[in-house]
Formats: sequence, structure tokens, C-alpha cells
Amino acid sequence: MTEPIHDAAALRARLAKESAIAFVPTMGNLHEGHVSLVRQAREHGRCVVASIFVNPLQFGPNEDFDKYPRTLDADCAKLEGLADVVFAPSVAEMYPVPQQIFVEPPPVAAELCGAFRPGHFRGVTTVVLKLFNLVQPQAAVFGKKDYQQFFILKEMARQLNLPIVLIGAETRRAEDGLALSSRNGYLSAGERAEATRLYRTLSRLREALQDGERDFSRLEASARAGLEGAGWRVDYVSVRSADTLLAPLPGETRLVVLAAAWLGGTRLIDNVEATL
Ligand code: PAJ
Repeated sequence: MTEPIHDAAALRARLAKESAIAFVPTMGNLHEGHVSLVRQAREHGRCVVASIFVNPLQFGPNEDFDKYPRTLDADCAKLEGLADVVFAPSVAEMYPVPQQIFVEPPPVAAELCGAFRPGHFRGVTTVVLKLFNLVQPQAAVFGKKDYQQFFILKEMARQLNLPIVLIGAETRRAEDGLALSSRNGYLSAGERAEATRLYRTLSRLREALQDGERDFSRLEASARAGLEGAGWRVDYVSVRSADTLLAPLPGETRLVVLAAAWLGGTRLIDNVEATL
């Protein structure tokens, strides 16, 4: 089993002589999606570092920070032979003093998931910059499952001149299409069977776009109605430009359809890209 490093000083000492680090930040409870990022990281550096840290700064007061699954031993076993270094700091190690300096994300962070999770992306940008400063990677791999997160982090790297290449990895799915997620573990057996509707709904919407439908509001409303009819509580279904994450301009050809919806007490997100 890969022995995790828990403190920042030990991490810096271990990485001091590494010159080509590829980094995969995670919150643990690893599944094949995370593992696929760690495998890809190998193509982007000689030393692969994975972090496991459930970041309190990105959870709202009524969110699942306390119940988020923490499975460090199993995670380290999965990373054996894939990651050279596993960094698993405590909250006190990451935030030895109350964090008063934040990375303010761009306005798009207040839309989509940000509209329902105020402060979430500020917590993500802040912890990822802190992790980047500790690990000092040349490349970092993120999943497109969290499309808005990846978009905002790319902007952070660009606008703050970080010398780090950010790589976006494809979403890994279960055989029935459900995007792998640590939060799928919250679903009951019945909810798990129903959960595939999210990806089916987005895939159908993509087909309609590719068939030439351009009334985005109508497509969004019908996707929402389908989910609500099956008992979901929908935060949003939205057709956006893949390049700006804003409403598509007429004639734009690279789109992404994003959704977040609740099945019982579990909030699921997913997205599909559509090239017209
Ligand atoms: P977490 O949800 O653990 O995800 C860690 C990385 O795995 C993210 O880049 C996420 O997009 C990717 N990922 C999750 N499910 C995936 C799937 N099914 N296929 C491919 N990649 C997938 O995202 C976070 O943690 C945190 O916000 C973090 C960036 C670590 C900052 O705290």
C-alpha cells in the first residue's frame, strides 16, 4: 500500500528533487473515474502525486461535509503502483490559521452549480491553488465530469499565470451510463436504478441539438419536465457554449449541456458535450 504523507513539510521534502510532477487532486473515496485521471497523469510527468482532502471550504453549511465518505486505506490501496506520492493532509494541516485569503473566481462561478452552492467554487479555487503551491506540479489532471469546475480552474491558471498545464479527462461511467461519483454511494437500490435517467436525458437533448433543434429553452424545459415527472428535483438543465460556459451565441458549434438534480437526498451532476 502507498503510505500517505500527511504533513506539508514532509511533502515538500519528498518532492524537493522532483522536476516533472503531474498532480491529481481528489477528495478520496476513489472510483474508476479518479483512477483514470491518475493513469493519465503518468503521461504528463515523471512523478505522479495524488491528494486526498475533503475540503471544508467548498461545502456549504447544510451540505454533506460531515457524511462525505472517508476511505483512506482503500484509496491508498487503489493508488498502489499508480501514484508515486499520496498527500492526505488533515484540515488543520491545510488550514493552520483561519483562511482569510481566497481566490475570487470569475462571474461564471455564480451560475449553474454556483447559483445553488454559494461560495463553492471560491472554496475549490482556493484549495486547488494551495495544493498547487505545495505540490508545484507542471501538469494537473481534472475530470470533465465537473465541467464548470474544470473551466474555472483553467481560467484561474490562465489569469494568475500559473506555470501548470491543466488537462481535462473524459467522464467515466457505469455500464448503464451513470457518471461515476463518490456521491452515488448515497443512493438506495431503487434510486440507483432511476439515476441513469440523468445521462439518458442529457444524451437525448444532445441528439435533438444534433438533429438541428435550436430552441434551447424548449429543450431545457422538456428535459427538466421529464426529470421532474420521474420524481427528481432539478436545480438546472442548461445548454451552454463549451468555450465560455455562457449562453451560446447564434452559430456556435461547440456546446455543452449541463445538469444538476436531486434524487431523494442526493445531488447528482452530469454533462455532455455536443459538436454541431
Ligand atoms: P472529487 O470529487 O474527488 O474529484 C476529483 C477529480 O476526479 C475531479 O477532477 C473530478 O472531476 C474527477 N472525477 C470525478 N468523477 C469522475 C468521473 N466519473 N470521470 C472522470 N473524472 C471524474 O473535484 C473534487 O474532488 C474537488 O473539488 C477538488 C478538485 C479535489 C478540490 O477539492
